[in-house]
Amino acid sequence: MAAAHEPHPHIKEVLISREQLDVRIRELGAQISEDYRGKDLLLVSVLKGAIYFMADLSRAITIPLSLDFMAISSYAGGKQNTGVVRLLKDLDEHITGRHVLLAEDIIDTGLTASYLLRILRARGPESLRICTLLDKTVRRIVDDLPIDYRGFIIPDVFVVGYGLDFRQIYRNLPFIGVLKDEVMEAT
Ligand code: IMP
Ligand code: MG
Repeated sequence: MAAAHEPHPHIKEVLISREQLDVRIRELGAQISEDYRGKDLLLVSVLKGAIYFMADLSRAITIPLSLDFMAISSYAGGKQNTGVVRLLKDLDEHITGRHVLLAEDIIDTGLTASYLLRILRARGPESLRICTLLDKTVRRIVDDLPIDYRGFIIPDVFVVGYGLDFRQIYRNLPFIGVLKDEVMEAT
């Protein structure tokens, strides 16, 4: 049975279907389970965009782990990243000496991830890696960003769904889709 939001009237194209997400996330989970076997893994993600990915990735990982969340505001809710990152909620857990894996929904310019890496690294984790579901490689302006796990490389298009929003809407779409131009242009 098709989900109620599929197809959605504001969506031009489904870029990554829920089935493709499912398969890829299970592969990432298997790889991470292997790489972190016997280690104290703390999966960290950033509210709100990464919560769907975090929920599915954590269930695809078969070794014991803990979860923690941060909240930041990276731009004013439109299409442009201003480069201004504000920490709205810090982690609950101490990360010193622990194996931290940052689960990100999307890395675009890389500014947000590089800011997060900087503040987390300063706390002395035993290891610190990034797992991003989506990577818009062509948009990168931070050129030394180490990405250890990536789900999909996507082209330079604005996508929504599976946690990603346009002005806080569309996060609950179960796939990654491209918004119609007229929806993006309407103010
Ligand atoms: P960066 O700092 O430019 O790498 O941007 C990271 C943040 O920008 C993500 O966590 C998203 O919140 C947002 N972002 C970048 N591209 C998209 C997109 O295509 N759709 C929705 N949000 C996006
Ligand atoms: Mg966002």
